[in-house]
Amino acid sequence: MAHRILVLNGPNLGRLGSREPDVYGSADLESLRSALAEDAERAARGSGDSAPVSIDLRQTDDEAELIHWLHEAVDTRTPVILNPAAFTHYSYGLRDAAAQLHTADIPLVEVHISNPHARERFRHTSVISGVATGVIAGFGFDSYRLALHYLLTR
Ligand code: DQA
Repeated sequence: MAHRILVLNGPNLGRLGSREPDVYGSADLESLRSALAEDAERAARGSGDSAPVSIDLRQTDDEAELIHWLHEAVDTRTPVILNPAAFTHYSYGLRDAAAQLHTADIPLVEVHISNPHARERFRHTSVISGVATGVIAGFGFDSYRLALHYLLTR
C-alpha cells in the first residue's frame, strides 16, 4: 500500500467555490482536501493500519507544472488521482506524461466533478482516458472519494 496519494488538479480548479457553482458546486479545494484526509483516516482505523495514507492535494493552472508532478509520481511510484480539467480535452503533453505511469503500472484515476459527456461537444473527448487506469465522472467531489476508495482497497 502506498503511503501517499497525489491528488492533482488542473487549470481553474483553484477557483472552485466561486466558479460556476451550478456545475461544480460551492465547496472549495480545501474542503475536498479535508474530506479525502478524513476518508483516509477512517480507512486506516478500519484496517488497523498505524498511519493513514497521506493526501497530497495540489492545483496548478500551468501545464508544465502538472506534467512535472506526473514525472514525480513515476519516479516515486506514487498513485495519482488526476482531474486534468480543460487539459483533459487537448493536452498531448499531459497524455504522454500520464502514459509513463501506465507503462510503469502505477495507478492513475482520471476524475471529473461534472459529467463531461453531458456537456459541450469539445468536452466529450479525453486524451487522458486511454492511459488512465479508470475514469470517474459526474459525482461532484464524490468522484475523488470513489477514486480514493479504489486506491485504498485495491
Ligand atoms: C472538469 C471538466 C472539464 O471539462 C472542465 O474543463 C473542468 C473541470 C470537471 O471536473 O468536471 O475544468 O474536469
